[in-house]
Amino acid sequence: MPALEHARPLEHRSGRTEGPGAHGFLGRLRQRRSRRDYEASVVMFANALRGVFREACTGIGLCQYVAVASGVTVRTPRVGEVRLGPPTSFTVELMAGQEPADFTAKDRGPRLAHTLGAHGLRVEPIAGRWVRVHLLDHDPLRDGYNLPSLTLASVYEPVIIGRTEDGLTLGHALTEVGHLGVQGQNGSGKTQFANGLIAQLAAAPDVLITGSDVTGLLLGRPWDGTVHRPHQVVGTHDIEVHAVLLEGLVAEMDRRLATIPARCDKIEPTTSTPTVLVVLEEFPGLLRAADSLPKPKRGEGIPVGDRIRTAVLRLLSEGRKAAFRVLMLAQRFEATAVAGGYARDQFALRLSFRVPADSLEMLHGADARPLGPEHANAAPGVAYLSGLGRDCERIRVPYLGGYGEYVDRVQAHGRRAA
Ligand SMILES: Nc1ncnc2c1ncn2[C@@H]1O[C@H](COP(=O)(O)OP(=O)(O)O)[C@@H](O)[C@H]1O
Ligand SMILES: [Mg+2]
Repeated sequence: MPALEHARPLEHRSGRTEGPGAHGFLGRLRQRRSRRDYEASVVMFANALRGVFREACTGIGLCQYVAVASGVTVRTPRVGEVRLGPPTSFTVELMAGQEPADFTAKDRGPRLAHTLGAHGLRVEPIAGRWVRVHLLDHDPLRDGYNLPSLTLASVYEPVIIGRTEDGLTLGHALTEVGHLGVQGQNGSGKTQFANGLIAQLAAAPDVLITGSDVTGLLLGRPWDGTVHRPHQVVGTHDIEVHAVLLEGLVAEMDRRLATIPARCDKIEPTTSTPTVLVVLEEFPGLLRAADSLPKPKRGEGIPVGDRIRTAVLRLLSEGRKAAFRVLMLAQRFEATAVAGGYARDQFALRLSFRVPADSLEMLHGADARPLGPEHANAAPGVAYLSGLGRDCERIRVPYLGGYGEYVDRVQAHGRRAA
């Protein structure tokens, strides 16, 4: 301390005012020069960026060809202010006929970003015909995030589904969405997603979590002691009980449909008629197991596989009005694996974790085709989503934190008999 106090008056005498570089006349000169160098480098960077942007726009056809006396000249969108960042961003004036989305369209966005040395782009409309283009230096979905220990007080509250590339958290009430279809290869994050979703709903007094789980990890034991557990069937030792449970759910659905009050077109969930979430974990696995059972003789009952298909198809096609929601998980949503193409069409909300390109297109349509090759290598927890009234998009779903954490949360919050 004494040394510092001693130094101060000296500083004053020598005229030092700012940092160490500002020492005396020479120091000020040096400081001014380094500022000038820095400004020059910024200008150089901005000019280089303008050049590359112009070339990129020409390369991907975001330009106009104008006939002039000397031949044809190419016009590209004008770049205004450049911000060094990070992340680097710059303003662009759209040309006649251009829309902000033209820069991020699936066939152009990645190519434009890569030419500019970025991983991706985000385009934000500003005033008039101007947009700001942000260069993203890594996949915004690269980093995972944990699901906060939240439970909903009611089915009318939004459940957290995931986070979009521009950092928006998507939440949606189960009363709003229809049935949910989730596909993905082994280890891609389907079960973790379902864990998170149903753990959020476990405490709500107007939700009942039922269903069939041949793996016995999603439903079953974690739910012991809760009101949900008696409505869940797990394992493969007795496949017929899965059919019995699903048929029981159809009977409850029919009962509700028959009692819809006059002047209402659907049941509003309450604590006495809760939303019934029918979870079908690894559903194709259940169908395979059921179909491998010996078939009953002619006239001696219906094969278990067919009973399951019929029940699920009815829940899917008529359940919405009766406050039934199906959450089906499968490695791929092939028609034969999920009780037919008609069943597949009933899912209003569709999520694909890592899947081969053809599976992605099967569930999301031709729109998803350009994303196929990239999505075939998606990290666990990264999914392609369609539904919710938004364009198809990539999201990252929250991570609940492993099986132990899941069991703890369900045990801590799962609704118990009063
Ligand atoms: N949202 C996520 N964020 C980070 N890691 C995840 C996420 N979801 C899954 N994982 C990882 O992937 C593994 C497999 O996930 P899981 O849900 O069991 O896959 P699936 O049911 O599709 O076979 C998990 O054990 C976990 O390590
Ligand atoms: Mg799984």
